[in-house]
Amino acid sequence: MAVIYQRENHIFTLQTEHTTYQMKVDDFGFLLHLYYGGRISGNTDYLLTYHDRGFSGNPFDVGQDRTYSMDALPREYPELGTGDYRNAALVIRNADGSESCDLRYVGYEIRKGKYALPGLPAVFAPEEEAETLEILLEDPVSKVEVTLLYGVLEKEDIITRSARIRNRGKQEIVVEKAASTCLDFVTGEYDLLTFYGRHAMERNLQRTRLEHGCFSIGSRRGTSSHQYNPAVILAERNATEDSGSCYGCAFVYSGNFLCQAEKDQFGQTRLLMGLQEDLFHYPLQAGETLIVPETILGYTDQGLGNLSNLFQRCIRNHICRGKYAHQARPVLLNSWEAAYFDFDGETIVRLAEDAAHLGIDMVVMDDGWFGKREDDNSGLGDWQVNEKKLGCTLGELIERVNAQGVKFGIWIEPEMVSEDSELNRTHPDWVIRIPGRKPVRGRNQLVLDFSREDVRGYIFDRICAVLDQGNIEYVKWDMNRSIADIFSTERPQGKVLYDYMLGVYDFLEKLTARYPDILIEGCSGGGGRFDVGMLYYTPQIWCSDNTDAADRVRIQYGTSFFYPASAVGAHVSAVPNHQTGRRISLNTRGVVAMAGTFGYELDPGKLTWEEKETVKEQVGQYKKVADLIRTGDYYRLSDPFRDDCGGWMFVSEDGARALVSVVMLENHGNMTVSYVKLKGLKPDTLYRETVSGKCYYGSALMKAGIPVPVEMGEYRAYQWEFAAC
Ligand code: GLA
Repeated sequence: MAVIYQRENHIFTLQTEHTTYQMKVDDFGFLLHLYYGGRISGNTDYLLTYHDRGFSGNPFDVGQDRTYSMDALPREYPELGTGDYRNAALVIRNADGSESCDLRYVGYEIRKGKYALPGLPAVFAPEEEAETLEILLEDPVSKVEVTLLYGVLEKEDIITRSARIRNRGKQEIVVEKAASTCLDFVTGEYDLLTFYGRHAMERNLQRTRLEHGCFSIGSRRGTSSHQYNPAVILAERNATEDSGSCYGCAFVYSGNFLCQAEKDQFGQTRLLMGLQEDLFHYPLQAGETLIVPETILGYTDQGLGNLSNLFQRCIRNHICRGKYAHQARPVLLNSWEAAYFDFDGETIVRLAEDAAHLGIDMVVMDDGWFGKREDDNSGLGDWQVNEKKLGCTLGELIERVNAQGVKFGIWIEPEMVSEDSELNRTHPDWVIRIPGRKPVRGRNQLVLDFSREDVRGYIFDRICAVLDQGNIEYVKWDMNRSIADIFSTERPQGKVLYDYMLGVYDFLEKLTARYPDILIEGCSGGGGRFDVGMLYYTPQIWCSDNTDAADRVRIQYGTSFFYPASAVGAHVSAVPNHQTGRRISLNTRGVVAMAGTFGYELDPGKLTWEEKETVKEQVGQYKKVADLIRTGDYYRLSDPFRDDCGGWMFVSEDGARALVSVVMLENHGNMTVSYVKLKGLKPDTLYRETVSGKCYYGSALMKAGIPVPVEMGEYRAYQWEFAAC
């Protein structure tokens, strides 16, 4: 049993194979957090200590007892209003304007299976592999009801949390802040690992020592953003890649978020993950409910590598859905860096011919095929095929591509409208902008109000009309600006961004239902919406607009802490690289792109004969190892921000196969040798390196490592395949 309730002492215990999570309803009906960490037996309510703390108030109903304070006790869902002065998980503004709430325990329910969240992405699991706990809390004065939802995937060592906030009172209330997870730690010294970045340089790892005060990250951009990924790790100070305690916390949501980590006056730590409080004032009328998006939690005492595998597995098996979730992905040739806007139908057919010749499975016609779209200043929203530009209908073009034995994919950006577009001229009121103010421009485009069903419905019909024109097997769903000027003619502004996100999810749900065979790849200026929420609808996401192999080693390193390689869109592009001007060998570019879904983003017509031969070999090699990359356990072998090389490897579940990749990032005179220690192998198994035929024991490869060749030239890459003898 994964969820246990002990009636005699009101303790709830969530057990997974290696972790325990415990909480208790105390004598006053407060829900206190007791423990989350490695699996233990028995009750941990003895961890609660009570002292008279100066300036930490006491709830009225504890009488004269000054040792009882919500300001000091570990909480499960701290609301503003009970004398807890730390960051709150929930802030409610009542009808009289007061900001207060006092949640007390009402009841619970335990059931088989994992709860689902209407309208929102969430972890799913077969009925027999998960359990759900619901704990109902209520503020007796305002009648605000909060249901805390816990999902337990025992085998996966995963716990999920969400919250349902319902107004059972008679008057409107406003939810001013809502998190889905609060983790309180009464003891411990922690670092917070976050993943910051910018367009074309996403998910750089930062490890911050948590000291007194509050460290927070989040997004106000309407998307999860390039700037901070909505997934963080709370690690004990001594935790490393291979050892030590760490907690992962990933928000299953693609919009504005807030993550706060606080060390309080008593040296206790609180981690909160939830909806961004800025630009959020969610009114609930009598009877209405708000669902706070889910958080995925994982814990291990085996270091960051193990934590990453927990999350990667969870996302692969319990988030990604649809036909392609567990299927080989097509190797793509994308037209963007090959031609940008400068293409016609013949260009696409020529790319398809090249693709066929090189063994590439699919050609993707990126931006520029619709409306008046010769550059990125116009045309968005006018989803009519530009047949003049293509020189034929879309159906005819697809037939010509398919005739080469090559699949066809297409780019769309449904949430956007160009100022210079028919759609904007006809429906200026469909845009998110504040009446009477000039809107903030981003890439010279505006954002459609996807919180509105009529707007979504119109775009949905237009997009379907395109997708119905031929055998389209892939869609790249892009989103190329941050949202500003929050306002909607249809709803209070404090609701817009949350409802917008639910609108996007609704659109994607309908699209995937109508086209179950189409593979959708998410994208937002590369990895600006690379989050667990999007992966529920699109099993892969374009990782970054930066295709430079050296930068990609680092971007993909940061991405790997939570996200599986099966989700990481990665392509080989031309040199000099269009983002950095760097020249890196085709071999290295191939090795780096093989840490993801693999494809090309260049014009093969510009390759030499030798390069084409190399591409053919790369595609062949990728197809041989694609399953291992898609389903294998993933290990980081170096820190590319510190070490001379970037290294990573995949190991099949049975430990019989491994693929090791190393890229030298630094080269100096009289170069020192880098030794890479492999991971995840079986120590007593003999492995053969497939090219040299040399055999090594797993223990030797893992404990002693292998030397990376010292060779002239920058950014050389090596790939070794090992198979159990
Ligand atoms: C974004 C994407 C690119 C490309 C362009 C097209 O920047 O990340 O891959 O699709 O849009 O405009």
